[in-house]
Amino acid sequence: GRFAAGPAEIMERINASIDFDKRLYRQDIRGSIAHCQMLVKQGIISATDGRKIVTGLRRIEGEIDAGNFAFSTRLEDIHMNVEARLKEVIGDPAGRLHTARSRNDQVATDVRLWASRSVRDLRAGIARACAALATLAERELKAGTVLPGFTHLQRGQPVLMAHWCLAYVEMLRRDDERFADALRRIEVSPLGSGALAGTAYAIDRAALARDLGFGAGGASRNSLDAVSDRDFVFETLSAAALCGLHLSRLGEDLVVYSSAEFGFVQMADRVTSGSSLMPQKKNPDAAELIRGKSGRLLGNLVRLAATLKGLPLAYNKDLQEDKEPLFDSVEHLAMCLAMVPECLTGIRVDRARCRAAADDGFSAATDLADYLVRRGVPFRDAHHTAGRLTRLALERGVALHRLTLEQMRSVEARIGRDIYRHLEVDAVVAKRNVAGGTAPAQVRRRVAEAKAWAARRVREERGR
Ligand code: ARG
Repeated sequence: GRFAAGPAEIMERINASIDFDKRLYRQDIRGSIAHCQMLVKQGIISATDGRKIVTGLRRIEGEIDAGNFAFSTRLEDIHMNVEARLKEVIGDPAGRLHTARSRNDQVATDVRLWASRSVRDLRAGIARACAALATLAERELKAGTVLPGFTHLQRGQPVLMAHWCLAYVEMLRRDDERFADALRRIEVSPLGSGALAGTAYAIDRAALARDLGFGAGGASRNSLDAVSDRDFVFETLSAAALCGLHLSRLGEDLVVYSSAEFGFVQMADRVTSGSSLMPQKKNPDAAELIRGKSGRLLGNLVRLAATLKGLPLAYNKDLQEDKEPLFDSVEHLAMCLAMVPECLTGIRVDRARCRAAADDGFSAATDLADYLVRRGVPFRDAHHTAGRLTRLALERGVALHRLTLEQMRSVEARIGRDIYRHLEVDAVVAKRNVAGGTAPAQVRRRVAEAKAWAARRVREERGR
């Protein structure tokens, strides 16, 4: 009624969000049904109109499900597309659905419903990835697989491969906590905030929140905030970016470990590719993509942050830009998480090669120093002596434990014949028997706990 002329063609194009927000149709219809039923209960619209609206909305959902819905760019977004179709299907009562509601609280509700379901799905993905890591940990713990542990990508001290697996479980469990925490703020109902100031109708906001499954979070407390708050999207993108970052490190480890130079693992054919030119190649594409996707996940977070910065209260059309980064991050993180079990179940570990790399004779240099400490030498002096012995071994072209007792004693007389068993790789690993350390006694406990945690989470997610 307010306009004498229609929009310019380019205006229609820049304004329309239907190409991407059609993904919200289930949430939009669910929110509308809840809203409509509440309006009936409150006596704001008649039960007859309410029934027609709900029936119409269900039919439309069926049409979209079946791919029989003609989305129109002219109708801008999912909300107007559904409402216009409702008018076609049920006629005049359709016009009553939007009573006591604005697209501003409607879209915020839809995105929250979508984020809630998606974050729950991501948590299920995390549980499955952790289960795969824990299973690999258990298998390699039984096999006694040791890997060099690196600092600066230089061999440092040997660790159990199971310990390496569980490091990633720890990261992912923190990610899971972050998502769970984000859910507490996602699952809050903005309905009733109207365009920005609330609504003049006597609606039941708490009942709406319960109906949407947001019982615990309840209804939002400030209408200005509720229609313009996208913190929950930011938090989701932030948790996704960090989770992606963790997975990128796993991807990188797998890329490096599967190279000929390391040769610790071989990735299965189904997650690798050949080269169109070099016939001998087997490339760890899956691991590289897991690593690479973290860039877009981080980008999506930055993209939203830049959109939100400096926006005046309350709703601004800029906020329409919240959806694509959210959809994109959820889709791509879900793929990365699903890729983890796929990569790990088919992985072949060259245990002999891992052990040879871990047991290169120098990874026990710290233990040589520790040995001297136990004989009363201050650690700093012991460290120096171990360094000198390392240099001596390097000059002779032998491993540290291949120096003769005489050679060792020429540097430090307090070294005894028992030194050799302290330098064996399994002894070196077993000595790190501190909580959180790599000794088998510790790792066994952690594997059991991680397995139980992942299994419980997978079960919970299946039951939901
Ligand atoms: N498509 C819009 C969005 O995604 C819906 C809200 C429109 N609100 C408005 N006042 N124009 O943000």
